[in-house]
Amino acid sequence: MKELAITIVKKFLIFIEKQKAKQEFKHKQISSIEFQLKNDYLKEVRPYSSINFYQSYPPLRIRGARPTLSRFQIYDLEKHLKSDINILDIGGNTGFFSLFVSSKVNSIDVLEIEEPFARIGKKLARYEKIENVQFINKDFKKFNPSKKYDLIFSFAVHGHTKMKFKDYIEKVFSLLSKDGKVLIESHPIMFTANENLLKEELERLDFVKIISSGKLDDDGRLRTFFYITRK
Ligand SMILES: C[S@@+](CC[C@H](N)C(=O)[O-])C[C@H]1O[C@@H](n2cnc3c(N)ncnc32)[C@H](O)[C@@H]1O
Repeated sequence: MKELAITIVKKFLIFIEKQKAKQEFKHKQISSIEFQLKNDYLKEVRPYSSINFYQSYPPLRIRGARPTLSRFQIYDLEKHLKSDINILDIGGNTGFFSLFVSSKVNSIDVLEIEEPFARIGKKLARYEKIENVQFINKDFKKFNPSKKYDLIFSFAVHGHTKMKFKDYIEKVFSLLSKDGKVLIESHPIMFTANENLLKEELERLDFVKIISSGKLDDDGRLRTFFYITRK
């Protein structure tokens, strides 16, 4: 009964959001590509998402629950990017964050378990003529590439994989190049109770070295992030 009520409310909210997007497009408040992507997105609202995109895409002023530009700046990401590095973005969602970063690096593989998200990202990449971002529709647990990555984004995703934290970090590290780094961000699903919990979990692992850390609350939830590498 409760599930039915939630489904009905969600369908109603999606209907309202579709009407809103239609009006915004009609009044030229949003572009044709944002309108198309929004419609694609609303066709299948996923478990991890609300009716809004999770990430914004600043070059086209596409709005999202989490602002890509401020995340990019708060992570101090520019400092860690080089034109010859290869990045993996685990649980990259629609990839708007990675598409934004793409011009500053050699390549980015966006790994995303939900096919509709990957499809939306591919569509935006085609529209933006971005050729160095590849969307891989796969579960991280089943992802075993031969390629190694210089930088891995693990933003608000480790809890969703349902892997033990140690196993998750071990697997992430196995995908790193020799001096590779991981940028890992906490998320409420695992670390609501205590903002220091991710730090404590990382410190418990004797093969992890914390390079630097920070905090952000771009969507009203306090999160911590860490640049880590192998000890
Ligand atoms: C909370 S969202 C975070 C999105 C993005 N990392 C960010 O922070 O902007 C979690 C994302 O991870 C994806 N995801 C969940 N489990 C996954 C798995 N096992 N393998 C790959 N992606 C997964 C979800 O579909 C969703 O897009």
